[in-house]
Amino acid sequence: MKPSFQHLNPDNPGVQEVMKYMLSRRQFLVLGTGSFVTTLMLSNFSEEAESAPNIAVSSASNSIKGEVKTMDIQPTNPDYFIPDRFQGKTILITGAATGIGSATAIRAAREGANVVGVDRKEKELNQTISKIKGEGHKAIAIVGNVVETALCDRMIAEAVKTFGSIDLALNAAGVMDGGDPAQPLNFDNQRNLLPNSIHLATDEYWDAVIATNTTGVFKSMRSELRQMLGQGKGGAIVNIGSIAGLTGLAGNPAYVASKHGVTGLTRNAALDYAPYGIRINSVNMAATDTPMVARAGEFVQATKKAGEGGSMGGLKVKSILSAADSKNRSATVWEQGAIILFLLSQDASNLTGCTYATDGGWTAY
Ligand SMILES: NC(=O)c1ccc[n+]([C@@H]2O[C@H](COP(=O)([O-])OP(=O)(O)OC[C@H]3O[C@@H](n4cnc5c(N)ncnc54)[C@H](O)[C@@H]3O)[C@@H](O)[C@H]2O)c1
Repeated sequence: MKPSFQHLNPDNPGVQEVMKYMLSRRQFLVLGTGSFVTTLMLSNFSEEAESAPNIAVSSASNSIKGEVKTMDIQPTNPDYFIPDRFQGKTILITGAATGIGSATAIRAAREGANVVGVDRKEKELNQTISKIKGEGHKAIAIVGNVVETALCDRMIAEAVKTFGSIDLALNAAGVMDGGDPAQPLNFDNQRNLLPNSIHLATDEYWDAVIATNTTGVFKSMRSELRQMLGQGKGGAIVNIGSIAGLTGLAGNPAYVASKHGVTGLTRNAALDYAPYGIRINSVNMAATDTPMVARAGEFVQATKKAGEGGSMGGLKVKSILSAADSKNRSATVWEQGAIILFLLSQDASNLTGCTYATDGGWTAY
């Protein structure tokens, strides 16, 4: 039900002043709901405007004439990169087989970095590494599970053996359910591994999600930091958190708890390692178009079909930018990679201990 603002007088200079200001801010027009000014405009001036793609500007605005066109924000060009930004640096990336880790690995290599890619998905990891090498850059693949201490130590040993040191790290390995990401999820046989509200959640689901998302980041960072400290030349690390590391997300308690764990690890490490020239930040995204999200979509649908009621998401399903986009597009992996690489670059020399909401405005409302 729309609130009524009929008692407000549109001829009142104060009301006109507020409208004039808001009309210069496109996002209020595009969102079309929720704000006082939009409701006022829609109820008093243009009942049709909410569904219209372009919104007629009322005569109350002295500064804008005619029609204000809505427009989609174009995502970062997947081919764009900054030449030589990471020339001679070595970057270690967990979760490099697909999604955000893979895109970041590809762009880092184009910018001059040697890439050490780590993942459980052997075939897809090899595809990413082959692509990088096919473009004439240097990269190695290390297949394994970041939950295992031995793998975390081995990934550093292999990186140093091949490239001499590590300068940068991205800890991207993560899961939304308790299944092996290298295997398709079998809904009927693996319901015990699926997200569910706390009173219905199993130990297996909880343990597996916490193991990869929090313990995996802890063990990865421990190995990376030991190496960086020993090298004595500083470094930078980005952990991939989530909006679920900043807020709640219905129906997936282990994911939310595990990503809040990443937030805690990021803040803790920033304090401990700043004196050694090592910066640590996290990126915290909302929906980004990757295989993990496609898999989550599959089990949410299967759960609904089975009439079991459990569902992720809930009250809020879109970021500001997704809601404003004509196709409600999600973020792209290249948009995420661009911010991750900025945070790893020299341009971010004053940034540490922060959780960067690369979320299209999800946490802004
Ligand atoms: N895509 C989104 O909407 C979204 C939103 C918020 C946070 N994230 C986070 O982004 C990160 C990257 O995920 P993505 O969306 O690119 O999905 P993705 O599935 O494409 O990438 C995750 C990668 O991590 C690997 N992995 C998972 N567990 C592992 C383990 N224990 N050891 C080694 N490798 C492992 C997977 O095999 C996969 O290649 C994750 O941490 C995820 O939680 C994603």
